[in-house]
Amino acid sequence: MSDSMIIVTTLQELWQALRLLDRPLGLVPTMGYLHEGHLSLVQRARQECASVAVSIFVNPTQFGPNEDLSRYPRNIERDLKLLETACADLVWLPTNEVMYPTGFQTWVTVETLTAPLEGAMRPGHFRGVTTVVSKLFNAVRPDKAYFGQKDAQQAAVIRQMTNDLSYPIEVIVCPTVREPDGLAMSSRNSYLNAEERRAATVLFRALSAAQQAYQNGERNAETLRRIMRETVQTEPLARLQYVSCADYDTLQELETVSGKTLLSMAVFIGNTRLIDNFVLG
Ligand code: PAJ
Repeated sequence: MSDSMIIVTTLQELWQALRLLDRPLGLVPTMGYLHEGHLSLVQRARQECASVAVSIFVNPTQFGPNEDLSRYPRNIERDLKLLETACADLVWLPTNEVMYPTGFQTWVTVETLTAPLEGAMRPGHFRGVTTVVSKLFNAVRPDKAYFGQKDAQQAAVIRQMTNDLSYPIEVIVCPTVREPDGLAMSSRNSYLNAEERRAATVLFRALSAAQQAYQNGERNAETLRRIMRETVQTEPLARLQYVSCADYDTLQELETVSGKTLLSMAVFIGNTRLIDNFVLG
């Protein structure tokens, strides 16, 4: 660990700074506008690694044409203060030109695992995620990389990519950090007005209702999906995009719940798209 946090932008600056850092090195990739969820990943990396690097890059290639790239929340000054307090050693703030130089034309794609759920709703999203995370891995060469269970499919896709491309990196997935009322922390929660913020707890309520049914012995996956759907429908400000009760490893929809299972959903609260999930079993 170094005395003060190093902030870099170009690849040359990054590589020079990396020479100063002790191993093992942990990497926490983010898009900034940091909250307690992000900081829990930094804390976990701090516990497990001699050095901690954090990247902040709002990655344009993972946003669809009608998504929120231009209004995605940003506050670099605040993020840097939070990371200093969390004892990060290195922060990499690449520009679009550093990440995607003119003429860029090489992509990383994970196939089957990106087909359902978020992949079905957001065409091209995971191609953007796996390409940028692959570039972050190549540039930083961490020993461990930290991701949140909040984005369950993303974590699964990155684990698959890491194995398939033989990255010598341990992928560590950390629990979802929630607000006291259950809402999963997200940079996008800042889009919600007060009324929408109250309605947004419906994701947690729906997942909790299905989990309760599971704990009471319900094993019919369609029944669990129906419980989630019906809970979301009780909230006038919520518009359900999908609910899923899927095998945790393959993300394929289940008929009967037996092994480890992912309950997940995407819900619009007004114009804000929120996702959340619980793991059963
Ligand atoms: P971002 O949404 O900024 O999230 C960065 C990391 O923080 C991800 O691994 C995400 O799962 C995790 N995270 C977000 N909210 C969390 C919460 N409430 N509890 C625990 N972890 C949480 O995910 C991305 O950025 C991007 O896709 C990225 C991986 C950086 C590639 O561009």
